[in-house]
Amino acid sequence: MLSIEDYQQHFVAYLKEYATTKEPENLYRPIGYILNLGGKRLRPVLTLMAAEIFNGDYKEALNAALSIEVFHNFSLVHDDIMDGAPLRRGQKTVHEKWDVNTGILSGDAMLIMAYQLFENYEPNTFLELAKLFSKTALQVCEGQQYDMDFETRNDVSVPGYLKMIGYKTAVLIGAALQMGAIVAKASDEDQQAIYEFGRNLGIAFQLQDDYLDAFGDPKTFGKQVGGDIIENKKTYLYLKALEFSNENEREELMALFSETPKDTNVKIEVAKKAFVSSGSAEVTKKAIDEYTQKAFKTLEILNVSEEKKELLKRFGLSLMNRTV
Ligand code: IPE
Ligand code: IPE
Ligand code: MG
Ligand code: MG
Ligand code: MG
Repeated sequence: MLSIEDYQQHFVAYLKEYATTKEPENLYRPIGYILNLGGKRLRPVLTLMAAEIFNGDYKEALNAALSIEVFHNFSLVHDDIMDGAPLRRGQKTVHEKWDVNTGILSGDAMLIMAYQLFENYEPNTFLELAKLFSKTALQVCEGQQYDMDFETRNDVSVPGYLKMIGYKTAVLIGAALQMGAIVAKASDEDQQAIYEFGRNLGIAFQLQDDYLDAFGDPKTFGKQVGGDIIENKKTYLYLKALEFSNENEREELMALFSETPKDTNVKIEVAKKAFVSSGSAEVTKKAIDEYTQKAFKTLEILNVSEEKKELLKRFGLSLMNRTV
């Protein structure tokens, strides 16, 4: 096995070869832009790691890893349109740098490119990868729809929220790992176990994303801090703050999250104060830790060495302590 940094470097070198501009430029330039903007590359690294954890060769998993990363970036381009987000990875979002139509079509092309990458595999592996991809990509759309629906609903529950983030974020992280396992021809049991590890880690990951959206450092976060508050996202932070508030506070918070004021800075400050004073910020941190531990627990049934499990745990812990 290589180090996490090595997998990342090999992946980025492979991506650079792939993301070159073709004609028409107005379709492919935004694709090259978003793919080369950076990001943590955590999903493709997980695909490569999983391939080697199950005794495959990471090189054979590069196209699957690339597919996952291209799909992820497609979902970000469309997500930024839907969330009205100005910043991504410290730079302008695609629809801000170009326009919404460019974001829609370049995103569409990336979704197809992601699928096309499976053509590099022999028929059996192709079928398994394509089936997992289709199921996962549809779930991501379902999750994104719940996320949008929740913006205008005031009856969102914690289980409803967890289901939503399970779909919009966690299944892709599970699938990234399972694809590595598929390429390495791991058993069905091991494929399921590594998928579950990724799904639970993915829930912790989205809880952390929501936490950072409110409390991250604007200098390092790379996205607009407070964006979820502006958009009335019904996050764990918000739902727990409601739960821990008295009747009056609850009504105020619900009113705050059903409007779009001109001065969004005041809204962000008021919401963040409520998240802290209610105890919801602390409880969210605890939940991040709990889902990370839950992920680690699923590793117990994996038929691989302790050393390999340690590598996955170290990766999980590094995600929990991130600032980006
Ligand atoms: C952002 O994903 C979208 C979420 C699911 C929270 P990442 O935080 O992995 O984004 P990049 O690729 O590192 O920029
Ligand atoms: C994004 O959730 C999930 C997908 C892109 C599918 P967010 O909307 O929280 O992601 P960020 O914060 O914009 O990266
Ligand atoms: Mg977003
Ligand atoms: Mg979103
Ligand atoms: Mg977010």
